[in-house]
Amino acid sequence: MCGIVGYIGANEKAKLMLEMLKELEYRGYDSAGIAILKNDTLSIFRATGKLTNLANTLKDFRSSGFGLAIGHTRWATHGKPTETNAHPHTATFSSVIHNGIIENYQDIKQELEQKGIAFRSQTDTEVIVHLFEEILKTTNDILSAFEQTIARLKGAYAILLITKQSPDRIYYAKQGSPLIIGKGKAGIYFASSDAPLIGLAHHVSYLEDGQSGYINCHNFETLPNICPLHTNKLYAQKDGFRYFMEKEIYEQHKVLLETMMGRIDGDTILFDELKDFVLPQSILLCACGTSYHAALVASYLLERIAKIKCNVAIASEWRYREPIMDTNELFIAISQSGETADTLEALKIAKRHGMRSLAVCNVDNSSIVREATWTILTRAGIEKGVASTKAFATQVMVLWMFALYCAQHQRKLLPQDIRQQCTAMLRSVEATKVAPKMHDKIRRLSKHYLHGHGFFFVGRDIFYPLALEGALKLKEISYLHAEGYPSGDMKHGPIALADDGLFTIALMPQHMLFDKTKSNIEELAARDATICAISPIEVEVADDWIMLGNHASYMEEFFETMVILQLLALEISIRLGNDVDMPRNLAKSVTVE
Ligand code: F6R
Repeated sequence: MCGIVGYIGANEKAKLMLEMLKELEYRGYDSAGIAILKNDTLSIFRATGKLTNLANTLKDFRSSGFGLAIGHTRWATHGKPTETNAHPHTATFSSVIHNGIIENYQDIKQELEQKGIAFRSQTDTEVIVHLFEEILKTTNDILSAFEQTIARLKGAYAILLITKQSPDRIYYAKQGSPLIIGKGKAGIYFASSDAPLIGLAHHVSYLEDGQSGYINCHNFETLPNICPLHTNKLYAQKDGFRYFMEKEIYEQHKVLLETMMGRIDGDTILFDELKDFVLPQSILLCACGTSYHAALVASYLLERIAKIKCNVAIASEWRYREPIMDTNELFIAISQSGETADTLEALKIAKRHGMRSLAVCNVDNSSIVREATWTILTRAGIEKGVASTKAFATQVMVLWMFALYCAQHQRKLLPQDIRQQCTAMLRSVEATKVAPKMHDKIRRLSKHYLHGHGFFFVGRDIFYPLALEGALKLKEISYLHAEGYPSGDMKHGPIALADDGLFTIALMPQHMLFDKTKSNIEELAARDATICAISPIEVEVADDWIMLGNHASYMEEFFETMVILQLLALEISIRLGNDVDMPRNLAKSVTVE
């Protein structure tokens, strides 16, 4: 995810910007840059890859004495991770950095291009600085020009802008992306999270959405809600959570909005990245682990919504099974990292046999993205916890949107149906917000689920792959034995394990085959298994009940259940004293088969 830093003061700025950006490295990025304004000189440095590349471009540059500096790490969303697309973006005498997504940048860009303005990058961000300078032609009031610029932007943003026209201040705006302004002994500091500010600022103001203006050395005290800054860096990186996994579970509602941003317009799904897309006759979804579970969910949605026949394959199996390949079939590779060896190799095989491919991936320019015909980025930001949470959530969301996109292009759904699904999507995002009461209940309940000989996670339809995912989460971080099953399959074998030492986590949404699942659960309860029901409806035979919200659709129920399963795995694992973020025997990116 992108990171922002800034400084007003007399300290050496190049080194300071690098040090502050370094504190944001843990969030992941693919390019970085800084702009320094001093004595009417605006110096820009940008580089792809790691910060050491940026440091190399700065090795002969020093900037002490009063001035301004802004710095950025970029995680590509619009346009490839190239130097030209790296921030800051500069017009004639101003420079800007931005986190978030400007949804209406195409309209603004077109309007500015018609006035003869040439754009250098493919980013949404560049429009901000050109628009600002264009508006400035009509007024002498720089703050007003900045505010008029901000008023034109739709989407999410944290913005810092510097201009030679007022070299003692940094203009800022916040909407939907975090931005903090701090004051220290040596000046004023800006950052998109606490970590870069620790040790530099003693007091900070966490800006609220809708705040904008400018800050110089004299007006920090006019900001609202100024408070002292705590001093623990690791705590700051985890935003105060105990583990990165916990933080990532909690931020799902934010990243899901990023996943959707700019891709829904009323009753239309837009994927600008699918240029010349050819609707397939059938689809093969291929992935590993958690991404495979997202593939399974997608296969239900694609068949139900878009009426496209789907097959799903585990990449390590598919690549060696001498599969029959059909060039009318679309190969979808799903991968958080974009580097998983088996998925990459399967994609290469499909490509060699003339299949068109789509990568659903979180990392731009990764090997899988480079190999695929088309890519949809999931925009989850870097995931640090080895057990995948927000990456899975964004994969499911992207694939749901893709199912709607296909249905829309085949006219399989009416605009009002698509609009209804879009509403369900927004509600599903809401459903991923962790309610403190719910977390507390799961924390208390987890102490009953530490022993026994194993867990069954059971569900039907898309709640079956979710059961698989719940079981995988638990086994990865708790090292307890857990399996996911379709609840209708119990009597074909697994029920033989049911006794008073078996825990069953029953996924029982009201909008998806509730009565059918209930009968299966009753069979398990009759054999003394301990039942924990996740449902909006109280189930008499259940020993424990985690109450789902009363949602309007099974997709909302899916997303809330997903969060509950993640939290359950987290709390059980914490009680067992395990390292949640770095479970034994596992790696984040599996680049060997
Ligand atoms: C589980 C997990 C793994 C990955 C799998 C594929 O929490 O993260 O099962 O899903 O290794 O990785 P990607 O998605 O990077 O291809």
